[in-house]
Amino acid sequence: MEAVERFDKLFKEETQLTRPVAFLTSPNDQTTNLPNDQITMAKNISFTIKFWRQNGPKDAGHFDSYEMKDIPDDTSFLEMLDILNECLINEGKEPFVFDHDCREGICGMCSLYINGTPHGKTERGATTCQLYMRRFNDGDVITVEPWRSAAFPVIKDCMVDRNAFDKIIQAGGYTTIRTGQAQDANAILIPKEDADEAMDCASCIGCGACVAACKNGSAMLFVSSKVSQLALLPQGRVEAARRVKNMIAKMDELGFGNCTNTRACEAVCPKNETIANIARLNREMIKAKLAD
Ligand code: SF4
Ligand code: FES
Repeated sequence: MEAVERFDKLFKEETQLTRPVAFLTSPNDQTTNLPNDQITMAKNISFTIKFWRQNGPKDAGHFDSYEMKDIPDDTSFLEMLDILNECLINEGKEPFVFDHDCREGICGMCSLYINGTPHGKTERGATTCQLYMRRFNDGDVITVEPWRSAAFPVIKDCMVDRNAFDKIIQAGGYTTIRTGQAQDANAILIPKEDADEAMDCASCIGCGACVAACKNGSAMLFVSSKVSQLALLPQGRVEAARRVKNMIAKMDELGFGNCTNTRACEAVCPKNETIANIARLNREMIKAKLAD
């Protein structure tokens, strides 16, 4: 009993801690690089949220708006949307539909266009779920829209169908080598630089921000990251030619546009994929065609 009371007391003290320590307990927040001594106390902000309502892919859609009052600025963006939905439900209105899953920058589901930028104006390397309300000011108008791309039809409100990405992966984004028994990890030596680069390419989470940001609706950054992660490793070379041809053919078939080097994709990618991958994709395609 004594232990429970001690824990209870500790818990109460912990939850009354001020912002700097609360910040340290949120390693997920990559939206500010401020040193701890420059982080100020949490404050509440009030703002207007304009959010996109669309009842399926054929509906014209429209914006609804809601006045959000006294939201602590250490609330994450998705927690703020949860609060919005609680308010809407309490008022007998339909909740706002948006996609999310891991809420820690891993799954790529939180696909929201915030104030005109995919994933909002975060530091590079952060997803919508890693965006915190301290990036906004009291009195702001915050606009939330879905990814807008013909290849990603709206399911409802801000939830879009990104099955097109799965279809591209199914076309070749894997290896089918019979691996047999597990072999010694060192049996195939891979230079550290190649392993690191392959890992960087593999960190693409398939969020689709690159497509949403591109004026051509191009999926080249996504496809090139997926092609590169395998092309850089000896295990992936075996099917490299077939893979690149099939994935590009599927990408074209599904209606994604072509790359014209605007680098808009690179600017919004939460995993810092670069257009060097696109150059590698093009090289892989040329090599595959020459081998035909
Ligand atoms: S390349 Fe970047 S923006 Fe495009 S799907 Fe992958 S993680 Fe998202
Ligand atoms: S919810 Fe998984 S990356 Fe944002």
